[in-house]
Amino acid sequence: MKIIMLGAPGAGKGTQAKMIADKYAIPHISTGDIFRANIKNGTELGKKAKEYMDKGLLVPDELTVDLVIDRVAQEDCKNGYVLDGFPRTIPQAESLDKALDERGEKIDYAINVEVPDDNIINRMSGRRACLSCGATYHIVHIPTKVEGICDRCGAELILRDDDKPETVKKRLDIYHEQTQPLIDYYSEKGALAEVDGTKDMKDVFADIVGILGE
Ligand code: AP5
Ligand code: MG
Repeated sequence: MKIIMLGAPGAGKGTQAKMIADKYAIPHISTGDIFRANIKNGTELGKKAKEYMDKGLLVPDELTVDLVIDRVAQEDCKNGYVLDGFPRTIPQAESLDKALDERGEKIDYAINVEVPDDNIINRMSGRRACLSCGATYHIVHIPTKVEGICDRCGAELILRDDDKPETVKKRLDIYHEQTQPLIDYYSEKGALAEVDGTKDMKDVFADIVGILGE
């Protein structure tokens, strides 16, 4: 099962993608997590990506597309995967489709997690992220057992640099401009499914399971 998560920054793509990956035993591939891991490790890719991410801008396609296309060609992706944060532009979607098409494959579901902009800013300021294992929490909705410490791996949690309100606003603008057109793109391909992302995260997941099947 090859799945794409669509939705605004903070809609809950990562939260749901992790649950999907666990339930269906497929890899969770998040371009945002890949870039953040590279920033943390001080790689060349990380240095370049950080310039764009901190401003709320998209990382250029030439740094992003091949990375994902190589990743989904790996052995652990043969039974499917859940892509979170990619594609984010029509050219990215077209590049992915072309690469899949050459292997006789296609995206089965593009799940759009729908959340109005007003809810987003509040979620982002409360988000805390673990750079070691990728877990995500919220200080009100999904608190950790010990404040500031990851329940899963014990590492210290961070407030992402790009979660400042003014950067979130920029990310939302870019989302509406460049990423939202993907909803029509996947609708035309018959792959689109929509869920109400304002519900409790467990109810959102139940709706997703209703779409993907048990
Ligand atoms: P990325 O890391 O992908 O960020 P994003 O798309 O902006 O989305 P987020 O990760 O912020 O939100 P999410 O939808 O995953 O929500 P989450 O589950 O965490 O990308 C970061 C940057 O990298 C981009 O800005 C860009 O610069 C670059 N980049 C990445 N991919 C790229 C690409 N393909 N091309 C170019 N550049 C790229 O949830 C948010 C919060 O809400 C959490 O605290 C969570 O606990 C909480 N929450 C989740 N669900 C619920 C719920 N149902 N109710 C209440 N709270 C909830
Ligand atoms: Mg995310």
